Amino acid sequence: MNNFDFYNPTKIIFGKGEIAKLKNEIPKDAKVLVLFGGGSIKKNGIYEQVSVALEGYDWTEFGGIPPNPEYQVLLKALEIIKKEKITYLLAVGGGSVIDGTKFLSSAALYEGAEPWDILKNKIRTEVGMPFGTVLTLPATGSEMNSGAVVTNKETSEKFGMGGPGLFPKFSILDPSVVSSIPERQIANGLADSFTHVLEQYMTYPNDALLQDRFAESILSSILETAPRIMENPSDYKSAANFMWNCTMALNGMIQKGVPTDWAIHAMGHELTAFYGIDHARTLAILTKSHYTFNIETKEEKLAQCAERVFGITEGDQREKAEQCIEAIEEFFLSIGISTNLSSYTDEFEGTAQKIAQRFTERGWLGIGELGKLTPEHIEAIVEMSY
Ligand code: NZQ
Ligand code: ZN
Repeated sequence: MNNFDFYNPTKIIFGKGEIAKLKNEIPKDAKVLVLFGGGSIKKNGIYEQVSVALEGYDWTEFGGIPPNPEYQVLLKALEIIKKEKITYLLAVGGGSVIDGTKFLSSAALYEGAEPWDILKNKIRTEVGMPFGTVLTLPATGSEMNSGAVVTNKETSEKFGMGGPGLFPKFSILDPSVVSSIPERQIANGLADSFTHVLEQYMTYPNDALLQDRFAESILSSILETAPRIMENPSDYKSAANFMWNCTMALNGMIQKGVPTDWAIHAMGHELTAFYGIDHARTLAILTKSHYTFNIETKEEKLAQCAERVFGITEGDQREKAEQCIEAIEEFFLSIGISTNLSSYTDEFEGTAQKIAQRFTERGWLGIGELGKLTPEHIEAIVEMSY
């Protein structure tokens, strides 16, 4: 097991009716900006619950943060933060709203001229404006981690940012919110959280017995929850498990002391940047090709996952690894997610070359858990996923 520091200060408030507890968490003298997306919260009652909980506060709002939060839109919120002398941010939404809020938390205190530099130059945020979240869509884990991903529409770039200053002070996780989520987004949440675990697990054995068992238990729990929540998003028991699976998949715990990959996400962000494909679906497109291409180095963990998660007992190690890749693809297909790029766009020719070129230009010359995946390898993997 590798050395590690583990720091996660986010307070989780979990359960039915807990949105009312907002008032216990935000300082009474705060000037609050409530941030949300395209308006789902105004139709499903969440906005109303937040408004009631914020009674007595000095607060204002900014709506319209789109999926894959856009830098250009966020700059408008930044203007309000400065003009209104906001001191506390409250994200009410899914990963996009929470990530947009994290960007604003950082940008509000950033002294440089162009906040895009935080993303472009990978500037770590040590201190941000304090913020909390009310999660409306289980998927990304952003509610309990310190990372964010922001899109620049003008340049078709999607970059990550982060730092210890970007943990939410608190996140309220009320599984009742799941009942209004459309099927497509439920499937996205299942696929994204599943892949988050894979990115931190499907590497090589590192004598981290507990981390492996944690990861496998989250994968198993997602597989068990998936058909139930797809069938009935109003089932509170399934919604509660769905929500907690997603948070635990990316709150830092399972990646401590182990090698991590994240190549699927690095490639996936480019597919979203070029074609606007939902984040989770980009991962489903690339996973099979990535694991097939890298089967030599990932064989032991693939076979372990085959046995422990999918109950595959037949065959030698290589055969088990291959069956694991098939089983993962079947999972994506079972929740209605296509796994080929050509199902999402007709303009896929040349995509692999474009992505490889971008990686070369950015100096991303060796990614993955071994730091050995070159832009040429990336090109081959993306091409396999057409
Ligand atoms: O905008 P509104 O109208 O609210 O509708 C949203 C949006 O259209 C809707 N929605 C959310 N909660 C709902 C609901 N509809 C009905 N009822 C509810 N309760 O769902 C749509 C998608 O929302 P979005 O926030 O975009 O989805 P998701 O949570 O999947 O977030 C995706 C973003 O997070 C980033 C992705 O790259 C992408 O930009 N990620 C962030 C990570 C992190 N910070 O740790 C890690 C991930 O790997 C990922 O990269
Ligand atoms: Zn993801």
